[in-house]
Amino acid sequence: MNCLSQLLQLLLLVVALLRPASEECNIVRRGLSRDLLLIGTVLTNEGALQDSTVFVQSGRIAHVGDICGLGMRGGDASVLNCTGSVISPGFINTHEHIEFSTVSPFPDIGERVRHRHDWRLGARNYTMREVSVNGSSVDATAWGELRHLFSGTTSIVGGNMVPGLARNLDFPDGLEDGLDARVVINDIFPLKDKLGAMRNGDCDYGPDPIDQDTAIGYHRYIGHIGEGVDVEAANEFICLSNATFDTTPAVGGGGLSTDIIAPNVALVHALGLTPGDFDIVAVRGAKIVWSPRSNIHLYGTTLNVSYLLEAGITVALGTDWLPSGSATMGREAICAASAADEIFGVKIPPKVLWEMATVNAAMVAGFEDQLGSLETGKVADIVVFEGKSGKDGERDISIVDPFEQAVFASQEEIELVLRGGKPLLVSPRIKDLASGTCELVAFGDSNKIVCIADELGSLFKELEASLRGVYPAVLPELPPDEPTCKPKA
Ligand SMILES: *[C@@H]1O[C@H](CO)[C@@H](O)[C@H](O)[C@H]1NC(C)=O
Ligand SMILES: *[C@@H]1O[C@H](CO)[C@@H](O)[C@H](O)[C@H]1NC(C)=O
Ligand SMILES: *[C@@H]1O[C@H](CO)[C@@H](O)[C@H](O)[C@H]1NC(C)=O
Ligand SMILES: *[C@@H]1O[C@H](CO)[C@@H](O)[C@H](O)[C@H]1NC(C)=O
Ligand SMILES: *[C@@H]1O[C@H](CO)[C@@H](O)[C@H](O)[C@H]1NC(C)=O
Ligand SMILES: [Zn+2]
Repeated sequence: MNCLSQLLQLLLLVVALLRPASEECNIVRRGLSRDLLLIGTVLTNEGALQDSTVFVQSGRIAHVGDICGLGMRGGDASVLNCTGSVISPGFINTHEHIEFSTVSPFPDIGERVRHRHDWRLGARNYTMREVSVNGSSVDATAWGELRHLFSGTTSIVGGNMVPGLARNLDFPDGLEDGLDARVVINDIFPLKDKLGAMRNGDCDYGPDPIDQDTAIGYHRYIGHIGEGVDVEAANEFICLSNATFDTTPAVGGGGLSTDIIAPNVALVHALGLTPGDFDIVAVRGAKIVWSPRSNIHLYGTTLNVSYLLEAGITVALGTDWLPSGSATMGREAICAASAADEIFGVKIPPKVLWEMATVNAAMVAGFEDQLGSLETGKVADIVVFEGKSGKDGERDISIVDPFEQAVFASQEEIELVLRGGKPLLVSPRIKDLASGTCELVAFGDSNKIVCIADELGSLFKELEASLRGVYPAVLPELPPDEPTCKPKA
């Protein structure tokens, strides 16, 4: 059977089942296998492919592009017509502290500090911000993974994990679906400065800081480095990039500078770095994790990311955590765009932001051969975002950039979340795709079918009831009490 006749056969089938035109996905054929053929606008690194396809077989992506390339395959697949919707790889969140997912955002007391120890520990007469998880941190972690899954994030580097739900790229047991086991080392205190050491001119932080030999041995090392806007934050980068800066050991251990800046290393925050420091990051092929909302809420400003992009640095987005960051990757991307514009007068194209949430994030986490893009052979972590064409009230939104449609989407706009080809969230119109223990959950004005109970060990609604009153996992378009993304004047 040649390609045309196959196409014709598919179309005939489709015509027979054709439903009224809609911007939402329809099941046009329920196949016998668990294979899935998605039709719609497919987001790839080369651009958005309209009227294209993604074929999912045994949890992997088996074909992307023109339906003709499918050949004989797909005969017993379910066919989902998502014309008008956008098909994207699931987002990868490279910076979370996921066990704080039940802690409400910090109230804005109007104080912008200069270094993380200022708010963490109340250093230098700043107000100490208390964060304590009320109740089980396992439940809080599950809650955070659900909030992110419901907003299109399928992988997280978050310092904690529960089995199932989102992938946890920093835990061998959190990878799911037989991913090649190789984890991110996720280090919040590379210089062992947890107790509050702030230095300027030497590296006398705590004992046993990260060193070059250790860092080189890791597949990926993601470290909080230079979180602050003062010389003390800048000093942290010097201590980790210049081995001759401090060659005198400190009493009690540590005290030596080292040089870990290499392609397998990503710096989280890096707010204290100078343009010259970023030139070093660029030359060495190291990467940056950008968390603009948390930066602005705590320090009043964020990175001039266009400088980094022009230098050729791979930048990924991360939400940081609920107390000062974004509740979802979509809210982080919205903050990233507005911060770049407001502080630096730069318009970052939606596709660039989308890359920071997908392919760049996969590179930062070291999973770029398995995750982060829709390509044959990769794991089928796929999210479908509702179409926005047509009229929204008075506003003509027929020409929305499909990358914008994906990366700025609210939870309500998500129609399908697949992790390894397994549907974890489906919209009611395509409910026949749901399998396992599923439940109907109200997402604002629309409902979603959520199929996570088998992995969670309880229904979503049961977890919600037991956590009664904590910050929600299902959010309106504008999450409540969201930390500010408005830079300090
Ligand atoms: C998909 O749906 C659109 C309308 O939304 C329709 O025009 C098109 O023919 C359908 N294609 C297939 C293959 O079902
Ligand atoms: C903190 O406040 C106290 C009391 O006002 C003052 O003596 C001290 O110098 C301040 N410390 C710093 C680092 O500003
Ligand atoms: C923890 O939860 C309990 C029960 O809901 C509540 O009474 C208490 O105020 C909470 N504590 C904090 C610090 O939120
Ligand atoms: C590293 O530190 C040494 C000692 O402070 C200094 O002389 C040298 O210029 C620094 N190297 C770089 C690349 O900044
Ligand atoms: C931000 O970076 C851009 C691109 O390198 C540069 O042209 C601009 O001057 C920078 N802005 C500030 C305020 O540093
Ligand atoms: Zn952090």
